[in-house]
Amino acid sequence: MIKVAVLGYGTVGSGVVEVIEKNKELINKRSAAELEVKYILDLRDFPGDPYESKLVHDVNIIMEDEEISIVCETMGGVGAAYKFTKMALESGKSVCTSNKELVAKYGPELLQIAKAHSCNYLFEASVGGGIPIIRPINTALTAEKIEAITGILNGTTNYILSKMEKEGADFEDVLKEAQEKGYAERNPEADVEGHDACRKIAILSSLMLGKTVDSEKIYTEGITKITAADFVYAKAMGRSIKLFGMSRNTENETWAMVSPFMISNENPLYMVSGVFNAICVRGNMLGDSMYYGRGAGKLPTASAVVGDVVDCARNQGKTLPCLWDAEEAVLSDIGEVERSFFIRVKADALDDVKAAFPGGEVIAVDGRAEDKGYVTVALKEKEFAAKCEALGDAVLNRIRMGE
Ligand code: HSE
Repeated sequence: MIKVAVLGYGTVGSGVVEVIEKNKELINKRSAAELEVKYILDLRDFPGDPYESKLVHDVNIIMEDEEISIVCETMGGVGAAYKFTKMALESGKSVCTSNKELVAKYGPELLQIAKAHSCNYLFEASVGGGIPIIRPINTALTAEKIEAITGILNGTTNYILSKMEKEGADFEDVLKEAQEKGYAERNPEADVEGHDACRKIAILSSLMLGKTVDSEKIYTEGITKITAADFVYAKAMGRSIKLFGMSRNTENETWAMVSPFMISNENPLYMVSGVFNAICVRGNMLGDSMYYGRGAGKLPTASAVVGDVVDCARNQGKTLPCLWDAEEAVLSDIGEVERSFFIRVKADALDDVKAAFPGGEVIAVDGRAEDKGYVTVALKEKEFAAKCEALGDAVLNRIRMGE
């Protein structure tokens, strides 16, 4: 019998208990042992809940119980979650988590503690919710030099952008509606400003490089400036606008960023709509592979946590390899990256824009008197930024062009 504790009985935590209960037989077979949730830690009481008897309010009950060998941390945040994760690992209890903020900030330290105590710190659910992506990188793709990761890593923003595209609506209106329906948080900043995607691409980039990519040093731009007008031009070009978490590791450049991109309908990420997430990984032998599915939600995320629990159960007393050193990865200057850009400008400024960015293409859309669209030839990010600044408020918006 393997006894499990769940820290945090919120959406994901209650999902973990539900998945373990619903798929009990299969999970026990695959774990080669019987799994049982012995404790659920939460500050709140849940009168009438079927698992009420397992609720505890004192974390020490869990940490001091030698029967507990696996802990699921589904609390979120980097305060108590960090402290409790360390306590568990230092007592030789494996920890499985969905907490991307904690993994992005303390991943290598917690992996090191797990290794020193012959247990595991697993975090499949921290990126892409239920989509297997951490395990493929750590196991199936170990023969590859991963050169590129490009992902739609946030369901809230993908839902908002998809709806803006479909309905010709503006950001603020769609956000408000999404909040009313519970699809977006009441405080949506972490999602719409790109911070959530940033933590996720920091984790993926760290695994790609085997060193730590500091999320605070990743250039991050959200979707708050995208307008219905931008989608009119995207549509005219057969393109869509998606928020990408992206990183590259080639001979010439190593970088990571989060930004909206205007992508062609031939990009496999073009068809990823609504709350879905997808991640494209390019290896130097395999080429592209893509991982698609539900990036959030109770049961998909809980399924990934429980998948990690099964791995811990199968590997008791043994630490699974995960190459992620504390040493900080040196990233190249994003300003040196070359790409082309879409610019939407005031109609009377089109000639100035053509002069500033020679050789580009005017994007014609019938019936638009107020603005014009233009796509530049490829140039360095820093040159583009300087020229845009010189054009001042003639530039209504600019969006990076993607493949
Ligand atoms: N807020 C996140 C999203 C939840 O919208 O994708 C999953 O990390």
